[in-house]
Order: sequence, then C-alpha cells, then structure tokens
Amino acid sequence: MKRIGILTSGGDAPGMNAAIRAAVRTATVHDVSIVGYLDGFSGLIEGKFQELDDRSVGNIIQRGGTVLGTSRCPEFLDAEVRAKSVRQMRSDGVDGLVIIGGDGSFRGALALEAEHGVAIAGVPGTIDNDVWGTEETIGFDTAVNTAVLAIDHVRDTSESTGVMFFVEVMGRTSGAIALHTAVAAGAAGMLVPEAHEQIEQLVERLNHSIERGKRSHIIVVAEGDEAGGAFAVAEKVGSIMNHPYRVVVLGHTQRGGQPTARDRIVAGQSGALAVRALVEGRSGIMIGIQGGQPVEVALKDVVANVHPRPDTSLLSLAQELAG
Ligand code: F6P
Repeated sequence: MKRIGILTSGGDAPGMNAAIRAAVRTATVHDVSIVGYLDGFSGLIEGKFQELDDRSVGNIIQRGGTVLGTSRCPEFLDAEVRAKSVRQMRSDGVDGLVIIGGDGSFRGALALEAEHGVAIAGVPGTIDNDVWGTEETIGFDTAVNTAVLAIDHVRDTSESTGVMFFVEVMGRTSGAIALHTAVAAGAAGMLVPEAHEQIEQLVERLNHSIERGKRSHIIVVAEGDEAGGAFAVAEKVGSIMNHPYRVVVLGHTQRGGQPTARDRIVAGQSGALAVRALVEGRSGIMIGIQGGQPVEVALKDVVANVHPRPDTSLLSLAQELAG
C-alpha cells in the first residue's frame, strides 16, 4: 500500500474531520501518501481529489461538517459507474480507500471490493447511530448533545408559559437520537419508529402531570416515527387535550457544530486503525467500537445485517422519570 484515498459520503456528521485528520496523520507515520476525494463517491468517479499531508489536516479536529465535502451518490448503484471510478482511482495511483459514512456508503464500497478487488476500510460516520457492528457512530454523541441543549432552551419557555412543546429530532429510520435525547433532556414522552406509546396513553400521562402542577412539557418525536413527525403528533395530541402547544423541528442543526470530545476520540481511534489495517494488508473491514475499543468488523457482515435496534428501554425510563 503506497497511496490511500479517503472520502466522506452520505450525510455529514460532526467528527468526520477528526477522522480524516487521524487517517492522514497515521498514513504519514507509515510513510504512505494519501489523497482526499471531494464530495464523496462523486469525487472518486470524476477524479477530483486533493493531496493531503500531516500539515494540511491541522486545525480541523474541532470543526463540524467535512472539509472534503460529501454527497449522496445514487449513480454509484450502477456497476458501470463503479468500474469507471476504479479505473479513475488506479490512474490516480491509489491502492486502497478509507470510506467514512453510513451503511449505504459501505454497500457501495463493498461492491468495489467484490467486483474489482479494491482494498477498503470503512469508518462509521452518521449522526443516526444505526450501523451494525459498532456501538457508536461518529457524530451521534454530538447530535444528541446538540438536541439536549436545544431542549434545555425550549424548556425555559415551557416552564415560564406552561406551553407544551413537541420537538422533532433527526433519524429517518432510527430512533436512537430521540431515545437518548429524551432521557437526557427529561422529556415527558417520546415517539420513535422502534417503540411506540399510544397517543391516548401519552395524553393521560400529560393530563395527570398537569393536574399535579407540572408546567414544562417536552415530547420528543423522531422524524421517522410512524405517527408522522412532530407536527402530526402535536395535532393529534392537541385535538384531544385542551392545552396550548408549539412545535420545534431541530432538523439539520443536529448535523453541524463542533464535535464533542467523545466523537473526536472515536474518530481518532477509528481513522487511525482504518489506515493501519490497510497498511498491514487487511481490508474488507469496518472499524467498529465494541466495549469502548476500536475493532475490525467484516464489511460484508455490516452490510448483510439489519440496523441495530437502539436501546428501547430508554423509552420506559424517560416515562418513569418524567414526574
Ligand atoms: O445522515 C443521517 C440523516 O441526518 C438522517 O437523520 C436524516 O433523516 C437524513 O440524514 C437527512 O438527510 P438529507 O440532509 O439528505 O435530507
């Protein structure tokens, strides 16, 4: 392995820059050159890249987003397009790839390995924490902390006015952000795709706490919940209860911002091990975090297995502690 390419793919996640930095600095230590493909797989297809070295990744560890740019790249589902990208990468002199992204990105990466023998090391980066084989994905911790801080602000208003708030957090197919946010922010209830409280039961609990003098009420809704997001849930609850409410959609605020220390550490461990594995001749892997430590997991297992189920026991915990 003389020259590695690195790219970020799918939705950006805070901590991706820390992973790029770790990968580049590890490559430098091993005397391997490294290039950064721009805007995900699109840059790989078109041969758009920049040379990276240990100095070019200075001052990015604390920055959200990704300095390489990212994209969702549906063209990559086409085998012809993948073949073109491999021809391009060979002509760029690149022998192996570090792919930072979610399991959609890994599906494309695995196809490159299966069809063309490209050496691949994946690093899970998505705020959704929905990748099999790892306890944590880069960006999840930051997204949860961002949502919790936003809800702390909303709670001041809720407590002052008695208005009830429905806060929508990200996670199209995963309730992980919602579950963790709801417990950490002291929410009265939550609605997530994986576990559902009936609206009537939620209303009953809300009415009971209002009768007992509670003033601030936060209900966290995952964007992918089957009830239809925060506006739909608020309307349903509002039609049963005679209580003023507002809806706050946090949206992409959760994708940006400075990564937390935890995300930077996970990114550092994963980016470094991804490069070390490629240099030592191992590929077809993703770096997962298991028992708090970085480990190598077979990429084919990551892609073959269904999304991990988030810890739904947090739902009943939030309800029990709501007061
Ligand atoms: O990257 C994951 C994620 O942030 C999901 O939580 C969300 O549903 C989706 O991406 C939004 O993606 P986009 O910005 O492409 O609409």
